[in-house]
Amino acid sequence: MIFSRILGTGGYLPERVVTNAELEESVATSDQWIWERTGIRKRHLVSGEETTSVMAERAARSAIEAAGIDANDIDLIVLATTTPDRIYPAAACRVQARLGIKDCPAFDVQAVCTGFIYGLSIADQFIRTKSATCALVIGADANSKILDWSDRRTCVLFGDGGGAVVLGASEKPGILSSHLHADGRYEQLLYVEGGVFHGYDQPASVKMQGGEVFKVAVRTLSRIVDETLAANNLEKKDLDWLIPHQANIRIISATAKKLGLPMDQVIVTVEDHGNTSAASVPLALDVAVRDGRIKRDQIVLLEAFGGGFTWGSALIQY
Ligand code: UT7
Repeated sequence: MIFSRILGTGGYLPERVVTNAELEESVATSDQWIWERTGIRKRHLVSGEETTSVMAERAARSAIEAAGIDANDIDLIVLATTTPDRIYPAAACRVQARLGIKDCPAFDVQAVCTGFIYGLSIADQFIRTKSATCALVIGADANSKILDWSDRRTCVLFGDGGGAVVLGASEKPGILSSHLHADGRYEQLLYVEGGVFHGYDQPASVKMQGGEVFKVAVRTLSRIVDETLAANNLEKKDLDWLIPHQANIRIISATAKKLGLPMDQVIVTVEDHGNTSAASVPLALDVAVRDGRIKRDQIVLLEAFGGGFTWGSALIQY
């Protein structure tokens, strides 16, 4: 039987750091409100020539190096993003060109904050059906480009960045299962105004009814943990690590509490990154792999929730 296994992880955060104190100068907010309500202290934002595909390329290069492969070994590129550089070509094709990879399928996946989990699941299925042997899966978002910087309810929450993994075909289990969901009825709670059919008179901007999203997120993220464990005949105590989507420390803590998992088994980056949408889970994975917390063969649960609504999980034996 063929499995897909993570060969290497990578991440990239823009150099420009914006603290809560800096945001106090432009909107009616406070470091105290942001910290207490979200757990965010600072976020990284793109500047100059940095785009989503630039961040994705940098994250990919570090994952390729960690995997110890040559870029041309890659035969599939899946890039999860909501903020591609252009409507088309896909940002994945731009990354392919930047990496000098000649011919392989390359496409974007749009599942907002759950995008990386969708991408990982798709790539896993390519590998298990022998349609690919070495896949690059990236989550990258330049959220700062679709925020209304005068709306304190949204602009303080997000950051920019990219995270990536290289998946290789293996006889040893890696991705144990993945679980994807969507429910399109919730569009009005979280969407981006503007677009192909809605016009470009105003810059695109995120609209969110935060309190409502919060409630559904907590409920859904707890449910998907149960679904994932049941599918693998595992119990909560079998998990070594939880890597949740990094939107709000209160959502993360509530999920961990329902799981009965102590916070020192939960990877948290929201304090330093903010919500980086599709980049949030792979960035957190990369941080914890590089600082030595996540070790080979440990059982790690990745989960995410976002616009759509979409939600999903992947259980991996790292
Ligand atoms: O990644 C995709 C999924 N997204 C999420 O999971 C986000 C889920 N939602 C959340 O994380 C939280 O709901 C927020 C952080 C967005 C908001 O926290 P909250 O505790 O639900 O606050 P709220 O929206 O109920 O607002 C409470 C008060 C309001 O004032 P009034 O009406 O009570 O006078 C807001 O106007 O806080 C006010 N407020 C702020 N005050 C200072 C909202 N944003 C800010 C701000 N600074 N940045």
